[in-house]
Amino acid sequence: MVSTCLLLLSLRYTPIRHTSTLAKVIKNRLNLELDSIRQAGTWKSERIISTSQSSHIKIENSKNDLLNFCANNYLGLANNSEIIHAAKKALDDYGAGLSSVRFICGTQTIHKQLEQRIAKFHQREDAILYISCFDANAGIFETLLKEQDYIISDELNHASIIDGIRLCKAKRLRYKHKDMSDLELKLKESYNENHDNIIRLIATDGVFSMDGTIAPLSDIKYLADKYNGLIFVDECHATGFFGRTGRGTEEYFNMIGTIDIINSTLGKALGGAAGGYTTGSKVLIDLLRQRSRPYLFSNTLPPPIVASAIKAIDLIENNPNLPERVHENAKYFRNEMQKLGFKILGDNHPICPVMLGDARLASQFADEMLKRGIYVIGFSYPVVPKDRARIRVQVSAAHSKDDLQRCIDAFAEVGRQFKVIK
Ligand SMILES: Cc1ncc(COP(=O)(O)O)c(C=O)c1O
Repeated sequence: MVSTCLLLLSLRYTPIRHTSTLAKVIKNRLNLELDSIRQAGTWKSERIISTSQSSHIKIENSKNDLLNFCANNYLGLANNSEIIHAAKKALDDYGAGLSSVRFICGTQTIHKQLEQRIAKFHQREDAILYISCFDANAGIFETLLKEQDYIISDELNHASIIDGIRLCKAKRLRYKHKDMSDLELKLKESYNENHDNIIRLIATDGVFSMDGTIAPLSDIKYLADKYNGLIFVDECHATGFFGRTGRGTEEYFNMIGTIDIINSTLGKALGGAAGGYTTGSKVLIDLLRQRSRPYLFSNTLPPPIVASAIKAIDLIENNPNLPERVHENAKYFRNEMQKLGFKILGDNHPICPVMLGDARLASQFADEMLKRGIYVIGFSYPVVPKDRARIRVQVSAAHSKDDLQRCIDAFAEVGRQFKVIK
């Protein structure tokens, strides 16, 4: 008995000593890493918004309104009154949440309605909801691809696609950004084997979030057909507003219905709350419901969010001209900034990255813009490659011409101050 007590005491004592040493090691290591981030000028601090998300916002400790050019609020729906009303009604009708994953007891009529609306919007057989598009990207590759398969990915794909790919066992090949000759080389490489029962999946963003560039989907489709490949597209920066009626990159290239798998978000143009989805063939969606880990092991989307996404789709379907305004605004902003001498990356898209190069300059530039009432953020490593720092301006349908001009004027002033332009 005594020896058992002694043993228990010693067992209890050992981990405490171990923990305190470990805590010290961890603290030192983390502090070193934090210091290196500060020294590199890539520290990201969060400004705290005290209003709803909008083109005009307030942030804590600032009395004045700010013009917001940071949000992915492409259609200005984040504080739309009809969406807010729909969310409040769903809160009354269906409650705050389900306390469950979908397959246990977390599926309500509105979840099925939203999945059907998404599938219809993209002209697909079915759709499956996730709590985020990050999760949709985490679930797709591991579920679909086996060891004998290939995943061929654009080098600038979003972090969530990269992480999703890491989870699967397929052979990985990476092609240079939008480079079709390189993609063809990689497809040839994957084609040298026994073709039976092999999936070769090309994965790309529809629109690349840091560069505002557009994947050449029709060329990708040509190569996929030539080498018997499938295509996955992440449409987070296209769904709801890109293409004539907002159906995304497929519609932009006039090829709706031809991409095998689409993943997208409800957290940008479609109301801006949260949530993601995969849409495609019924067999694919059936399999995801059975096997996709973020779907099986994570909570259901809350009803108010589901209802706000349904309302956002209503608004887009009933107002086919809604996407037009954001593109007019983007065109105006890009033209005026280029006339001033700024280098703007990307193809005619509301993501307008103003290139500055140096991380510290991007951060100081953003601070100076804030002093002039313009909220923009500097992006630096590791979000973008080293020495490719930029301010990513996000143009919205909610910006007026006057809003855009105020932003352009501030860029001109600060650009001259830092000698970025003459
Ligand atoms: C291209 C892309 N894919 C996926 C995501 C993740 O979307 P969500 O916020 O719904 O997780 C984002 C978000 O920033 C994105 O830009």
